[in-house]
Amino acid sequence: MTDAITPVLTKRWSSPGSWTLKTYTQLEGYTALRTALAAKPEQLIELVKAAGLRGRGGAGFPTGMKWGFIPQAKPGDTSGPGLKPKYLVINADEGEPGTCKDIPLMMADPHSLIEGAIITSYAIRANFCAIYVRGEALHCIRRLHHAVNEAREAGYLGKNILGSGFDLEIVVHAGAGAYICGEETALLDSLEGRRGQPRLKPPFPATSGLYGCPTVVNNVETIASVPFIVNGGSDWFRSMGREKSPGPKIFSLSGHIERPGQYEVPMGTTLRQLLELAGGMKGGIPLKFWTPGGSSTPLLTADHMDVPLDFEGAAEAGTMLGTTAIQVFNETVSVPWAVMKWTEFYKHESCGKCTPCREGTFWLEKVLHRMVGGEGTVEDIDTLLDVCDNIFGRSFCALADGAVSPITSGIKYFRQEFLDLCTDQTVTDREVAADSALAGAAR
Ligand SMILES: Cc1cc2nc3c(=O)[nH]c(=O)nc-3n(C[C@H](O)[C@H](O)[C@H](O)COP(=O)(O)O)c2cc1C
Ligand code: SF4
Repeated sequence: MTDAITPVLTKRWSSPGSWTLKTYTQLEGYTALRTALAAKPEQLIELVKAAGLRGRGGAGFPTGMKWGFIPQAKPGDTSGPGLKPKYLVINADEGEPGTCKDIPLMMADPHSLIEGAIITSYAIRANFCAIYVRGEALHCIRRLHHAVNEAREAGYLGKNILGSGFDLEIVVHAGAGAYICGEETALLDSLEGRRGQPRLKPPFPATSGLYGCPTVVNNVETIASVPFIVNGGSDWFRSMGREKSPGPKIFSLSGHIERPGQYEVPMGTTLRQLLELAGGMKGGIPLKFWTPGGSSTPLLTADHMDVPLDFEGAAEAGTMLGTTAIQVFNETVSVPWAVMKWTEFYKHESCGKCTPCREGTFWLEKVLHRMVGGEGTVEDIDTLLDVCDNIFGRSFCALADGAVSPITSGIKYFRQEFLDLCTDQTVTDREVAADSALAGAAR
């Protein structure tokens, strides 16, 4: 019987040697692959569409639909994209601040990703798959290498997989640790050996991706969900979560809570319910603000604890589900200080390709430093909002939209704190406000 918190994606994580092929095969591993190889590729695409799986990398794009965009050759074709090689690229860059679900998944259960990758590659008729992992995660890269080798030796990879006639190679690629290389087209450039910067879209990767060939780019958790859908069926998958955002989801909880970690729950679970699972606020100090899906998603407050955390619920609350990286901050934390730290990150990670983001993040950081240092003016708040307005929707990729989220949402809910840093109080009052903001660094 599946109840609200019966683990699916995380069900093997605490089994001894969960990362080994032996444990994986003892616990249903590679059974979905046998089922999938007995089906037609297009039946698998229809199954994933029917399950309603949506991308777990942030944007929530319907996965089956994405797979269906890959052009396939028709009888009689002599040219066209359908005849080109197809590629599957798995996005394991995981650079969004607060996000830490994909690396634990690959460490604890790498074969679920590999099995999902084989099924997906078969569904889109790709014979090559790359897993792009952030280079700092060396332990994870080693574990994936080991798992890929185990799978190859067991006949799950290579030529004529399980006698099906289907061939697949998986390469584990180490990135160099740039946040922008998580953006799918920058990732493809990086994978091709170029400097990782976003490409103009269209054309989209589905028609012109890796080496100009049709490519599916999917997140780790998205692909790891696929074997469970093949084994459980679309109705079972839809029995969890909400109608437009079905299925289970791994939420990464960090910050001022009793038990930080990964919590797998159905889509649509609220922060209040998650906090109950995580033992509540650390030391009982009340919640002040939180991010629903990493720092690129507009922050929320204690008034939003009952927002259903799925793509629609988050949007209705004026934010985004993002990567479901919930960072929880208690009343001791200064919002302007936290916003300044996030802005430092975005300024550092801006790839410099387009002017609004390159110049804008530079100035946003400068103004926030001035304010938090006690040297700001009331006009600085309007300057911040004006610069944000000139960045949002006017930049080349979504990094820039994410960069302004903490600032605009921080000012929306906590304007008074920004004002306190720069109003016409006495110099001493301003110093006290600035000191308390800077003290955030020590917490
Ligand atoms: C700046 C930036 C960083 C991103 N980083 C990641 C990442 O680390 N992992 C990821 O899966 N998606 C990331 N994305 C989203 C990808 O561009 C892409 O939408 C995603 O990999 C698609 O997979 P999905 O459909 O399975 O969600 C990032 C997007 C942007 C704009
Ligand atoms: S928005 Fe920022 S990260 Fe994206 S292309 Fe422009 S400069 Fe680069």
